Amino acid sequence: MQTFVTLQYEQETAIPSEYDDVRTPEAYVRHFLREFSEEGDVVFDPFAGFGTTLAVAEELGRVPHGVEFEADRVESIRDRIDHEENVVHGNALELDPGDFPAFDCCLTSPPYMEQSMGVNPFRNYADGSESDYETYLRDLTDLFARLADLAAPDASVLVDVSNMKYEGDVTTLAWDAAESVSESFHFEGEVVVGWEGEARDDRDGGTYGYGYDHSYCLAFSAGKSD
Ligand SMILES: C[S@@+](CC[C@H](N)C(=O)[O-])C[C@H]1O[C@@H](n2cnc3c(N)ncnc32)[C@H](O)[C@@H]1O
Repeated sequence: MQTFVTLQYEQETAIPSEYDDVRTPEAYVRHFLREFSEEGDVVFDPFAGFGTTLAVAEELGRVPHGVEFEADRVESIRDRIDHEENVVHGNALELDPGDFPAFDCCLTSPPYMEQSMGVNPFRNYADGSESDYETYLRDLTDLFARLADLAAPDASVLVDVSNMKYEGDVTTLAWDAAESVSESFHFEGEVVVGWEGEARDDRDGGTYGYGYDHSYCLAFSAGKSD
């Protein structure tokens, strides 16, 4: 596994610009799906967002399946892919593994949380949706435990995540997510993704939108024995 790659930070499909830092650039998905999956594989994304993983999976001849909480995003994914019936509108934290085929590769980016945030990312930060960082990490741990029941025996799980630097404070989300997912999958290691492109300074600088010029792909495999 190559542990450092440099990719261009750009979005290939247009959506309202306020959502740009919510999305995973296509180049990221293409790079890691090529490395960790094969043609015909089932690719799963429980936080499908605007459908980058699902659309690129289809482009590469994989079979996409996913879940997304926001109805309008589900519709925009269905406009983007041929397997439109494979996108479920729902809450990933409540997903029933019996409703999906086993996946060969899960590539996902969970909604991020900074330690100081009080609203719940798994309710899309809605007003009144209280949460805290510990609860968030517990929810993440529980979700990946559910996904372990959906993974094919030699499946890969890839998590697009970064640490977050905001107003002088760093939330070590990447480290903490690695620990959460490791409860159910075997950690193979992290790939540092260096981002090239126009700097974004809306969150303490860095090319990437969270105060850094890099993020990670955390790579796991199924079959954790303990
Ligand atoms: C970081 S974004 C993923 C973006 C995606 N990788 C893309 O490129 O479009 C996280 C997504 O998770 C969705 N989400 C948040 N809570 C969820 C939940 N409980 N169940 C399913 N999806 C959820 C959000 O609506 C958001 O679209």
